[in-house]
Amino acid sequence: MPDRLTVAFLGFGNVGRALADLLLRKLDTLRADYDLAVVPVGVATGGHGLAVDPAGLDLAAALDAVRSGGDLAALHAGTPLGATADFIATCPADLVFETIPTNPQDGEPALSYDRALLDRGVHVATANKGPVAFGYRELSALARERGVGFFFESTVMDGAPVLAVGREGLPAARVRRVTGIFNSTTNYILTRMERDGMTFDEALREAQAIGIAETDPTLDVDGWDAAIKTVILANVLMDGDLRPADVEREGIRDIALADVESAEAAGERIRLLCEAVRAEDGAVRASVRPTRVPIGGVLAGVTGTTSIVDFETDTLHRLTILEHDPGPETTAYGLLADMVNIARGRHR
Ligand SMILES: NC(=O)c1ccc[n+]([C@@H]2O[C@H](COP(=O)([O-])OP(=O)(O)OC[C@H]3O[C@@H](n4cnc5c(N)ncnc54)[C@H](OP(=O)(O)O)[C@@H]3O)[C@@H](O)[C@H]2O)c1
Repeated sequence: MPDRLTVAFLGFGNVGRALADLLLRKLDTLRADYDLAVVPVGVATGGHGLAVDPAGLDLAAALDAVRSGGDLAALHAGTPLGATADFIATCPADLVFETIPTNPQDGEPALSYDRALLDRGVHVATANKGPVAFGYRELSALARERGVGFFFESTVMDGAPVLAVGREGLPAARVRRVTGIFNSTTNYILTRMERDGMTFDEALREAQAIGIAETDPTLDVDGWDAAIKTVILANVLMDGDLRPADVEREGIRDIALADVESAEAAGERIRLLCEAVRAEDGAVRASVRPTRVPIGGVLAGVTGTTSIVDFETDTLHRLTILEHDPGPETTAYGLLADMVNIARGRHR
């Protein structure tokens, strides 16, 4: 008999739905490779209702309902549930995929949701940066206490195994410095400016038109998203204790086409560079700022929505990971990998 793992989706937007598609596609592989029978038992959304069925929820029907703008209520079995809080308090899942929007101010309400789930002894896999940036130590300690997993591979570089490499692939190594380009939107804008001579505003408008940038681009262009990801890497891989406001942060809003052109004339390109470093006094410091990098170097070659991370350690010296073509599907894969790793007991 395969091991039965019941799962639920808290959030069923771009990432939640891509994960549902991926899960349906991988059910046989999970059974064959890991002897794992994954059974979806719940889906909760903000405006499309929620549904729970302990006997097994029809995930394809849930996808159809939400994609056609309908409500999930028809799929619900048992006593009707009120709001998300009921779902969190009662959902009969072994593991919840939390993919609600990131709140860069304090991580709420997801921080409280994840805390409540872990407290109930439910594993949590999340793509939401908020709870990790604001509650990593607390939530990890709680998960350990309850004997469950709190995994979040998709929060940095959209599902590429960056945290897994740092955490599991470098045993006994000390990470001295992490540098990289973690925000796709700003890298896309800078690339359009240098390649096509667009102004910042033109490149931003284009990024918004094709769905790379949000209508309110503040989080990306002012460096907040990059700062949050840098905090996650610093805290998880370097034992830092930073919050996003601790990061020395400067975005790309004030980068003019003339700056890009003068960098180019000097054989350089501008990149929104993220860095976490262990200082002489042992403290971990982090920064995000536009930085001129040599055109022949690796960082200048990171264009468009590609991301890169470089680890400097006391054993392997430098280790670099490049991620191409990120999106909801790759982010979904990070969550699926978290689930498999939890099912394999990697949280213990
Ligand atoms: N998109 C990416 O490629 C990507 C990459 C890395 C990380 N992430 C992170 O992954 C998360 C999800 O991203 P996304 O693109 O899927 O966002 P999204 O499309 O906006 O989906 C968010 C989902 O959460 C639901 N929701 C909102 N508030 C809720 C609440 N209080 N209770 C229950 N459900 C609630 C929404 O409900 P409705 O459907 O009713 O609106 C929606 O289903 C975010 O934290 C994001 O930062 C995304």
